[in-house]
Amino acid sequence: VRAYDLIFEKREGGELSDASLRELVAAYTAGELPDYQMAAFLMAVFFRGMEGRELATFTDAMLHSGEVVDLSAVSGRKVDKHSTGGVGDKVSLCLAPIVAACGVPVPMVSGRGLGHTGGTLDKLEAIPGFRVDLGIDRYREIVAEHGLCLIGQTETLAPADRRLYALRDVTATVESIPLIASSILSKKLAEGIDALVLDVKVGRGAFMKTRARAEALATTMVELGTRMGKEVVALLTAMDEPLGRTVGNALETLEAIEILRGAGPSDLQEITFALAAQMLVLGRVAGDLEEGEKRARAAAADGSGLERFRRMVEAQGGDPRCVDDPTVLPQAAHKIPVPAPRAGAVREIDALSVGTSAMKIGAGRATKESVIDPAVGVVLQKKTGDRVEAGETLAVVHANDTTLGEVCAKAVGDAFELGDESPPDPVRVLARITAEDG
Ligand code: URA
Repeated sequence: VRAYDLIFEKREGGELSDASLRELVAAYTAGELPDYQMAAFLMAVFFRGMEGRELATFTDAMLHSGEVVDLSAVSGRKVDKHSTGGVGDKVSLCLAPIVAACGVPVPMVSGRGLGHTGGTLDKLEAIPGFRVDLGIDRYREIVAEHGLCLIGQTETLAPADRRLYALRDVTATVESIPLIASSILSKKLAEGIDALVLDVKVGRGAFMKTRARAEALATTMVELGTRMGKEVVALLTAMDEPLGRTVGNALETLEAIEILRGAGPSDLQEITFALAAQMLVLGRVAGDLEEGEKRARAAAADGSGLERFRRMVEAQGGDPRCVDDPTVLPQAAHKIPVPAPRAGAVREIDALSVGTSAMKIGAGRATKESVIDPAVGVVLQKKTGDRVEAGETLAVVHANDTTLGEVCAKAVGDAFELGDESPPDPVRVLARITAEDG
């Protein structure tokens, strides 16, 4: 098969055969297909899409471009969660230990932050000594022993995706639903899981700005996962204001530990326990979502989730004292309060603006090469719906550079919309999408 013919066929809206798609992915991964031809193919997919069978074959070819981890030696159904990314989304850090404490193993290969969104690996690396670059053998051992392990992408897991993603990044082909779905699922299925819960974020601070786009992505991923023999459920969750009260790596890790102590902000609790309930049902340790949520809340209240977190930190080389002593984590030199310009109710907090401001003081990456400062970030003292007096502190910026910190404080102040009337109570879990919906 000539690549030219496949590009032509897709450009004209045709459906490609399984053999052609597999050949295309294999040739590109082996370096036998030039970037310009793959780029043209990706653009054709961007405009023409892929039909369900094509997408499953393309994803399967990406999945098998590298190692697929065998976790069959670990008993129980292995279940992971993937978030499409947001601001203040530290859910994986508290969710994985809670689910593991309830008896469902969680093998989790996570990503780093880019732009206004944070990444789980950066948050974990705020813990002194914590290593995310363990090999697959050690990952398998830690999952078997402690029921969870959180590592970064390796060279051997879905290498086709690494090459394709880098090419999409420079050819304006990232925002394609079939390409996003195949990218995410090829990596997640390479971890050795039986089932997956997707947290598809919707709103200003999310990748998907509208409910319709988020629903389309969630439905595509649920159908794709199902075709590939895995149980996949998606929750659509709100990402208009930052999740929880903290944005920034060490600050977010501390907040996740609060959840593991049975405390923490109510929005973060709600999302964590809603996702945990889905995972416990998929892991077959809870009969229904109500039971799943009850068990997850109990694992936070009784300290068993926290104990799993401590064990995971220790197994991955981190300083486990961070669980009891927040001063073990890096702290910023300056704390700059953001005062309310008037009295009233907080109507909105723009997650995109808070995420971008935090990135600019070092909490995130403007480019893949940027260096993170784990200590810096923003703590929101007020959230949507809270009432404030004029001059009361809305947020505190944690900075190591006062000039940058002041600029951030101004931007965070501007991200708050204050009004006279309180807004309606926010809906945080917007929808649940399962294979039966399709
Ligand atoms: N995250 C991924 O892993 N892949 C995409 O294509 C987009 C977001």
